[in-house]
Amino acid sequence: MPQLNLVLLGPPGAGKGTQARRLAEDFGLPYIATGNMLRDAVQAGTELGEQAKRFMNNGDLVPDELIIAMITERLEQPDTEKGFILDGFPRTNAQAEALDRELLELGRSLTAALLIEADEEIVMRRLSGRRVCVKHQHNFHVDFDPPKHPDRCDRDGSRLIIRDDDKPEVIKHRLDEYHAKTEPLIGYYESQEILLRIDGSRDADQVRDQIRATLAVLRLEGQK
Ligand code: AP5
Ligand code: MG
Repeated sequence: MPQLNLVLLGPPGAGKGTQARRLAEDFGLPYIATGNMLRDAVQAGTELGEQAKRFMNNGDLVPDELIIAMITERLEQPDTEKGFILDGFPRTNAQAEALDRELLELGRSLTAALLIEADEEIVMRRLSGRRVCVKHQHNFHVDFDPPKHPDRCDRDGSRLIIRDDDKPEVIKHRLDEYHAKTEPLIGYYESQEILLRIDGSRDADQVRDQIRATLAVLRLEGQK
């Protein structure tokens, strides 16, 4: 089986985390989410967490050098041998170039960059109703994916909370950051001919089906 080295791109609330987790389970690959890693660091009170906290709470991107160091170390772990699902990285040109360099050094390359597209009205609704569990950051939504008990995670029983950066004014700023700094990566991956567009406005199962079908075609093409 060839490696499956995937990047998930898309605005806040497009459903990257929801789909990345499913993909990781479907393909038995590690799920690597920079946002989750940073929130874990904040919770654990590490030096990285201390440095990242104020950027995250304001909805700003965390400086490239911190993120690149964190991801480089993660990609060198042996569990990424068969591939990985990257969620929320890269988010700037410098991060995309650093990822290409790191993979080249490891003798690997990206299989595809999946762009999950959803308009602003949709992402605002999704983020304003999101609930996240404190233990493993499983996602729920009060209307679209309600947990069985309003304040408990169905999967690990831990408490559900609202993320600090899911306040309307912070969401707005995260979207501005996305348009200014991350959207240019669409052209970056288009020019490498590895960008695949996914309609993120449909329900989560339909989005998953489109991703799976798209990846199946890609694998068949790879065998030709
Ligand atoms: P991060 O945690 O990556 O947040 P984000 O990119 O803003 O994206 P979200 O996690 O908000 O959305 P998502 O697309 O994962 O949607 P989800 O699946 O949860 O980053 C947070 C912060 O960390 C950044 O602001 C920055 O400060 C820092 N950071 C992280 N990475 C960085 C980097 N590389 N460089 C610099 N800084 C970095 O879905 C949202 C909701 O909708 C959920 O409730 C879900 O249940 C629901 N939902 C999902 N799909 C559907 C669907 N199809 N239909 C209906 N509801 C759905
Ligand atoms: Mg996420």
